[in-house]
Amino acid sequence: MSHADEHQGTRRDFLYYATAGAAVVVGGAAVWPLVNQMNPSADVQALASIRVDISGVAEGTQLTVLWQGKPVFIRYRTPQEIEAARSVELSELPDQSAENANIPGQAIATDDNRALPAPEGSDAPEGAWLVQMGVCTHLGCVPLGEQGDFGGWFCPCHGSHYDTSGRIRKGPAPRNLPVPVASFVDATTIQLG
Ligand code: FES
Repeated sequence: MSHADEHQGTRRDFLYYATAGAAVVVGGAAVWPLVNQMNPSADVQALASIRVDISGVAEGTQLTVLWQGKPVFIRYRTPQEIEAARSVELSELPDQSAENANIPGQAIATDDNRALPAPEGSDAPEGAWLVQMGVCTHLGCVPLGEQGDFGGWFCPCHGSHYDTSGRIRKGPAPRNLPVPVASFVDATTIQLG
């Protein structure tokens, strides 16, 4: 299997390449090799924060945004995904830290401590939005969405399985996918950083 094949995502994954003034949307897969070829300029990589329009993201799909040179997964989870994430006992988790930059100190890895609080005026159920770095905590590959033994993300590089809350459940990755600083600016805009 070629390197590119390893990184084919589902057709519902999109790569949203944000720059200061324009965006290129690449449909079809998390195309990390393509990202590298696109070679984001230093000033784009250095952007401390970006705002992402999530109005076009349907329930059960994910937007992948390039931010500071790394992919960020923004997923609008289904009620089933939320329920699956919230029914897990903490003792089942290899990494029991929320790994959430929005919560100071050492918060535990409940789904509630990882999902983005719902914005005012949103129709989405509480816990619907999950924002996390799309970088496997093992050796840095980009995990594939809606795959793996727990229906969340799967990193095919060495077989790490993440659940629908982005928490590592099986395989060599040591930590949950980190949740970056993120917040809703309004009902359809998420700010990263
Ligand atoms: S980089 Fe993801 S399992 Fe090794």
